[in-house]
Amino acid sequence: MRLSNVTVVRRIPDKILVFLLVLVFVLAGVLTLPPISLQAAGTKDDYPLTYDNLFDAVQGETNANAAYLAFAQKAKDDGLFQVANLFTATAAAEKKHADEEWEILLALGADPADRPVAGAPTVGTTAQNLQAAFDGETYEYTVMYDGFLATAQAEGNTDAARIFRLAKGAEEIHAGNFSNVTTNLSNANYLKDNYSVVYRCPVCGAVYSKNNLPAANCPVCNVAKANFVAYSSDVLTQTYANLFAAVQGETNANAAYLAFAQKAKDDGLFQVANLFLATAAAEKKHADEEWEILLALGADPADRPVAAAPVVGTTVENLQTAFDGETYEYTVMYDGFLTTAQAEGNTDAARIFRLAKGAEEIHAGNFSNVTTNLSNANYLKDNYSVVYRCPVCGAVYSKNNLPAANCPVCNVAKANFIVYQVSSPGSGGGTTTPDTGETPSVLWMTMSSFVLIVIGSSCVAVSRKKRVLLAS
Ligand SMILES: [Fe+2]
Ligand SMILES: [Fe+2]
Ligand SMILES: [Fe+2]
Repeated sequence: MRLSNVTVVRRIPDKILVFLLVLVFVLAGVLTLPPISLQAAGTKDDYPLTYDNLFDAVQGETNANAAYLAFAQKAKDDGLFQVANLFTATAAAEKKHADEEWEILLALGADPADRPVAGAPTVGTTAQNLQAAFDGETYEYTVMYDGFLATAQAEGNTDAARIFRLAKGAEEIHAGNFSNVTTNLSNANYLKDNYSVVYRCPVCGAVYSKNNLPAANCPVCNVAKANFVAYSSDVLTQTYANLFAAVQGETNANAAYLAFAQKAKDDGLFQVANLFLATAAAEKKHADEEWEILLALGADPADRPVAAAPVVGTTVENLQTAFDGETYEYTVMYDGFLTTAQAEGNTDAARIFRLAKGAEEIHAGNFSNVTTNLSNANYLKDNYSVVYRCPVCGAVYSKNNLPAANCPVCNVAKANFIVYQVSSPGSGGGTTTPDTGETPSVLWMTMSSFVLIVIGSSCVAVSRKKRVLLAS
């Protein structure tokens, strides 16, 4: 028993020893292997040709990005917004290629200060720019990336091989797009139909439009098309920029008129203040409606223009400033914005520009009329103690120009006009209040609450009396 027990005890440690030795060797082997994520890392000396090729690739992609942004600007200047859209999306793809290639160089020990910078692009006509882009893309996918890929594979740099393979596939599609746009450059409807929206694959950088959009996944990198980044030519149009300028102008006008109203009140010119307040509300509505269109076109809510600090002078100076601003708006600004919006086919913007143009003309007339009669207190009292703002177009009327039935700018019935009146003109007033129709309902609610409280209290008092009588 004892001997056999001893034998058994001796045999087990031998097996465990062998097992432990094997385990130690295996663990030592695993621990000395480099982590998987650093598989392709090393230094310039490990992949000498690929290292140089990555630098050439970053330089080429950086130049292409700068060139395409400049070509996009030229296309915009030519009114070829869909071509500008294609250049903008493709520029973003080239930047991503450059960024990813640069990441690999940094991992191989490149000095961050050595990142290639863009060469100044040579900008020609849009037809020439499209040809230059096509030639560049064709060179990249047939020669440059083709060779770089073979070399990276031969040197065993899988990270570089991956980005070279994806970029090669993307550049081939870029070349096809530029070729297609060149063929159809004089066909405005085709460009509008196919390139008003283009899509960039966020992984490989391929750019698609209606005519070559994949059914499901990107044919270059297999990413689902739900991940594609969309680019709309709407944001590149002149109307988009004009809407921003209009919101800025209206926002400034609103702030200025509110400040001018305060100055007029301080001067005791309550009827002038009344006109400024009603007109300020009209300008705010113009700004709000224009901003709604921008949001629908994809503007960032954080980018809404804010008011510039108004320069307040004497009331005579303020009236002149207001007249000049309104005159510029209806004769120059909105006139041009309307023509451009119609030409670009933005009917929403054209509508608001047309209404604002009509309203500003009436605003200008009011400020002119008040300036002429500024020293005639009775005229101001008679004509501007009550003013009316059209809630649709923002035209402002007073006794002297109130339409008989409908607003001549937008045809809304005058029953819908919002009334602004000097609160107590007889006593010299002090404030002007817009009668928006909300004030009466607030008053009504307050009065009816009061009546209910009185009735309620009476009932309580009566029932107490009854209880007292019953108890006695
Ligand atoms: Fe490209
Ligand atoms: Fe306005
Ligand atoms: Fe105006």
